[in-house]
Amino acid sequence: MDIKKAVLKRHSVRQYKDVPIEGELVEKLNELIAQLNKASGLTFELVLDDKKAFTGPLAHYGRFENCYNYITIKGPKNMDEQVGYYGEKLVIYAQMLGLNTCWVALTYRIGGIRLKLEKGEKFYLIIAIGHGRNRGLPRRSKPMEKLCSVSGEMPEWFKNGMELAMLAPTAINQQKFLITLLENGEVEAKSFFGPCHKIDLGIVKYHFELGAEIPVKWK
Ligand SMILES: Cc1cc2nc3c(=O)[nH]c(=O)nc-3n(C[C@H](O)[C@H](O)[C@H](O)COP(=O)(O)O)c2cc1C
Repeated sequence: MDIKKAVLKRHSVRQYKDVPIEGELVEKLNELIAQLNKASGLTFELVLDDKKAFTGPLAHYGRFENCYNYITIKGPKNMDEQVGYYGEKLVIYAQMLGLNTCWVALTYRIGGIRLKLEKGEKFYLIIAIGHGRNRGLPRRSKPMEKLCSVSGEMPEWFKNGMELAMLAPTAINQQKFLITLLENGEVEAKSFFGPCHKIDLGIVKYHFELGAEIPVKWK
């Protein structure tokens, strides 16, 4: 599957088939994880067949079903934006492999996941992954004009970037971000206070880059 198509098709999936992720899929995910760990300074880890992580009231509240695989993300402090940026690369890649995902900051059994933290490391959140029982549903987005600012005519590449930025998953679909095209051609992306807003910002920036299809000069 082409990468843009994967972005268009991706929706959060919380109900999975009781079918393990196996063989080549595991190899491919782990290959990308190794690359991302090197590039980001974070540690992504694929955890398979853990029947405990999505039990308990929070997972029930989140309506998670048969969710037995997930990716843990940990690393140095203050790397929220990188967590979002590199994590979304994995999310989109998983979609290209025919898998489904959901970013999960809260609705799992906290303290019940397989995770070893070294001294000074921060645990950020997990990404649920598996063979979805459904493909998830499209959801509403704020209108483009509320999410960006451009003085004068909007260049095509910026509009294309915004179209995919609007599809970026954000915690509780808050979309608390603003992308501004500056006079000098640089692009400024800001997020505003809300749960996980800096992680959201990294996700949004990755989507924007995919849409723009030119090297974006971030301020
Ligand atoms: C940083 C982050 C944290 C999230 N945490 C949770 C969570 O704890 N539980 C949950 O069910 N969904 C969670 N989500 C999924 C969002 O609710 C979902 O991405 C958003 O509603 C947009 O829907 P979409 O992903 O289908 O586009 C999270 C998403 C992000 C980006």
